Amino acid sequence: MTRKKEAKQPEPGGSADPSLKIQALRVEIEEHNYRYHVLDDPAISDSRYDGLVRYLEKLEAEYPELVTSNSPTQRVGAAPLDRFESVAHEVPMLSLNNAFSADEVGEFDRRCREGTGRESLAYVAEPKIDGLAISLLYEQGELVRAATRGDGRTGEDVTLNVRSISSIPLQLRSHRVPPSLEVRGEVFMPIVGFERLNEQQKARDEKLYVNPRNAAAGSLRQLDSNVCAQRPLSFFCYAVGVWQGTPSPSSQMQMLSALREFGFPVNPLAREVKGLKACLDYYEDVMASRASLRYEIDGVVYKVSSFEDQQVLGSVSRAPRWAMAHKFPAAEETTVVKAIEIQVGRTGALTPVARLDPVFVGGVTVSNATLHNAEEIERLDVRKGDTVVIRRAGDVIPEVVSVVLDKRPSGTRRFKFPKVCPVCGSGVTSDEGGVIQRCEGGLICSAQLKESIKHFSSRLAMDIEGLGAKLVEQLVDSGQVKTPADLFAVSAGEFAGLERMGAKSAQNLISALEKSRETTLPRFLFALGIPQVGEATAQTLAQHFGTLEALQEASLTSLEAVADVGPVVAEEIRRFFDQSHNQQVIRSLREHGVRWPEVRAGAQPIGGFSGKTVVITGTLPNLSRDEARQWLITRGAKVAGSVSSRTHFLVAGVDPGSKYDKAVQLGIRILEEHEMQAVADQPPD
Ligand code: IVH
Repeated sequence: MTRKKEAKQPEPGGSADPSLKIQALRVEIEEHNYRYHVLDDPAISDSRYDGLVRYLEKLEAEYPELVTSNSPTQRVGAAPLDRFESVAHEVPMLSLNNAFSADEVGEFDRRCREGTGRESLAYVAEPKIDGLAISLLYEQGELVRAATRGDGRTGEDVTLNVRSISSIPLQLRSHRVPPSLEVRGEVFMPIVGFERLNEQQKARDEKLYVNPRNAAAGSLRQLDSNVCAQRPLSFFCYAVGVWQGTPSPSSQMQMLSALREFGFPVNPLAREVKGLKACLDYYEDVMASRASLRYEIDGVVYKVSSFEDQQVLGSVSRAPRWAMAHKFPAAEETTVVKAIEIQVGRTGALTPVARLDPVFVGGVTVSNATLHNAEEIERLDVRKGDTVVIRRAGDVIPEVVSVVLDKRPSGTRRFKFPKVCPVCGSGVTSDEGGVIQRCEGGLICSAQLKESIKHFSSRLAMDIEGLGAKLVEQLVDSGQVKTPADLFAVSAGEFAGLERMGAKSAQNLISALEKSRETTLPRFLFALGIPQVGEATAQTLAQHFGTLEALQEASLTSLEAVADVGPVVAEEIRRFFDQSHNQQVIRSLREHGVRWPEVRAGAQPIGGFSGKTVVITGTLPNLSRDEARQWLITRGAKVAGSVSSRTHFLVAGVDPGSKYDKAVQLGIRILEEHEMQAVADQPPD
């Protein structure tokens, strides 16, 4: 939306008394802000509006004693913070249960009707904005604090950043506002703003955001509010946490109109719908207009409108029973295949990838989609120049679903899967029933070598800090590094000679390499990149065999005797240690001083989790529940289902349940996923 274009206007302000003039200007500016952000009906042009703000700035510079914190000029300019303070939410910020089908919505409606004893219910339906939840506290009508949702109980104080969001009022409009009001809603980045931001980021060689939600979250978490002020953030309110001092509304619909009067932007698509059918019709309507919205949504939300009924229904484990998010299905889009390329992975697997004309789908810009393997390309018959349907469901890698044959240009040719490795020219073999094609080149293949070295130096392996992908590529391309062991032979001078490296970063890298030499047997085994040997298996193998030598000499039978090691894994391990070049790399690494403390074979695992009882709650960012359990068990932990005084640690992810509160009460140490490794690396107490 832009403000109106119009002819010349009289001088703003009006009065001669500077104090009155400033006051009048502020009211005028706030009024235009309200018309623009809340009513969606601007009365003046953007440039006229900017003129008013500049005039106010000029007056305030002349009369600094008249500046107040809620003046429209005071949205930016604070000094950067060191960190965000924690904020405890007086009323917890809940999350929503999800429905993916009309049947599930039907169930929700039935439960709500049964719970309230009503035959039919009125709901308020709203779009589900893909942004992040925020809590805004107003005292006597003035914005005093803004906080992120965090884990629902405690968030971060982002007041300075939020003050820079022009659609969030610093001062409420109505005289009837409650003396204390906590409003909740979603901060988001409009799509156009997101695309513009990424163009700027690209031009400055800075990291690109994958979608508007990440961009909004990244912006709100800037410690320098002046950076956040440059980001095009916007806001819609949808709930109240605290309403104190005046009679509060009695339904969601009443509340939304009151908030609108106070000066908050309310989503114009929010409406009251009566009964299940109206909910489902609303869903279809919003889905149909989704593409024309200026912001991303990932579904709609239904809320029982009457607050009395909401109260009766209550909440279970962090989500209200009176609300439901009805999510849209996975997003699909069509685009054109510019090329089909083959990627060679760490273990030599050849994966065909379609390079695409970039499209915005399911909330991210996609320019590559996997074609999985030779069989899949064959089945789809995807060709260069084809128009294809791509799908992105949740956070998974985008994939090609089908080819739009009507749009196939003439002269296209079937894709021929290469018979030799496109990177090193070595032969290609098929395995796993002919589905996976593999380059036989091993570390001779620069693609495999690069991926192996990236894996070798990664955080859970040798943890060589500062050795990023770009550096690895240069080291391999220049021939300086032909095996992971060669990393330890590169001098500071040679590192300093690489692109984007200076003397200081070269020295840091040398120190990081030095530090990584002192490792543990499980980390070392994992770093070797033996096919099928992940972190947990490496841990089990180290415990079982105690020394690298014992493992290297283990027969297939004794390998299979290890818990979790089946015939396939046993064979991979044997094959790896039988290859002379692998033996050579291991010798060379040890000659370069890579070492680890002895592990007593068959002994209890050593580390901070050894013998400890751990409970897991919430969704972890990377590991699934099962993976986290396995990970902890292999490190000697006992994983329990509920928190008690005998629990040593609680591993908590997003949306933790009541276990979290209990752990807090009992003073149990709470870990986030990224803190688990550090505990495992500690000696047992
Ligand atoms: S209501 C008690 N309404 O979705 C209900 N949430 O998945 C609290 N969201 O954390 C939320 N649009 O960040 C509500 N119209 C809307 C929403 C909305 C987006 C987000 C919100 C919440 C998340 C839950």
